[in-house]
Amino acid sequence: MAKEINTIGVLTSGGDAPGMNAAIRAVVREAIAKGKKVKGIKRGYAGLLAEEIIDMDAHSVSDIISRGGTILQTARCYEFVEPAYQKQGAEICKKHGIDGLVVIGGDGSFKGAQKLAANGVNTIGLPGTIDLDISCTEYTIGFDTAVNTAMEAIDKVRDTSTSHERCSIIEVMGRGAGYIALWCGIANGAEDVLLPERYNYDEQALVNHIIEGRKKGKQHHIIINAEGIGHSTSMAKRIEAATGIETRATILGHMQRGGSPTCKDRVYASTMGALAVDLLCEGKTNRVVGYDHGEFIDFDIDEALAMKKDLDEYQVQICRDLGNS
Ligand code: ADP
Ligand code: F6P
Repeated sequence: MAKEINTIGVLTSGGDAPGMNAAIRAVVREAIAKGKKVKGIKRGYAGLLAEEIIDMDAHSVSDIISRGGTILQTARCYEFVEPAYQKQGAEICKKHGIDGLVVIGGDGSFKGAQKLAANGVNTIGLPGTIDLDISCTEYTIGFDTAVNTAMEAIDKVRDTSTSHERCSIIEVMGRGAGYIALWCGIANGAEDVLLPERYNYDEQALVNHIIEGRKKGKQHHIIINAEGIGHSTSMAKRIEAATGIETRATILGHMQRGGSPTCKDRVYASTMGALAVDLLCEGKTNRVVGYDHGEFIDFDIDEALAMKKDLDEYQVQICRDLGNS
């Protein structure tokens, strides 16, 4: 028989993402609705090791669903990769009566969750990252808000770029993953998109494309560059020198991680938060919640971490085709 869960802990770990608060709220309120106690762990695994643990009630999560960031704060805790600290983390959970834990974060955070599960704390992971780079799911908490923030910012840069007949390089977040770049590439109608997963370092082709566009009467040339490729400022200087067209670089940076979550992020994060609690109440552990083909489902964390994911090739192709007039 599955062990009964009495107290559920919740923490956020890794980079923050808009919608994390909606997920925390859902964990707290669903747990209370099921008669469980809830404890919030501050600052991810660093806060767990430091025993920064607070009691939470329904009121603790009032007025947060519309707020970006995470009320629990987040951190990167490098020592948590070591087995001794993972064991200590599990012991601290037990000491505070936490027998079920919801970890909201990315793949790195899931590895920590996996280790806590192995040390006897029933654990469920929720995919929280603006990067959309978690293989087992088509949706991650925060991506929708971040990509909309980036899209709106790029529209603004485009206005001034057209007025000045410039080339603009706009760098969006995504160190290893080009999802924000690709979606903005399509949504903003960019002339070129540089994706870490597909980059072939052919800057001359980029230069030729800009010159061709100008000959055809194009008033601007928008290049969306993913953070993983980076170097937008030096790239802008080289492109200006090679094309003779004024070129500016704009790095959107951390503004993409903040802001009030979209309706989709609020609703999906709320659903995932509630589902995590339901899974814990069913006695499940070492699971991660995902969204696939219109359904919220859960996977074994080990299997989820072993899955591979790549950009949709058709989207990559249409992004290129549609950006050429
Ligand atoms: P994300 O969760 O967004 O992928 P990170 O990769 O920075 O972000 O991981 C967040 C935290 O998860 C790390 O700071 C660390 O505390 C924990 N973590 C990462 N990798 C491991 C691992 N192999 N084992 C245990 N914990 C890990
Ligand atoms: O994983 C989310 C993310 O915003 C990435 O897109 C980016 O590469 C990274 O975090 C930036 O991390 P930091 O907050 O440490 O600058």
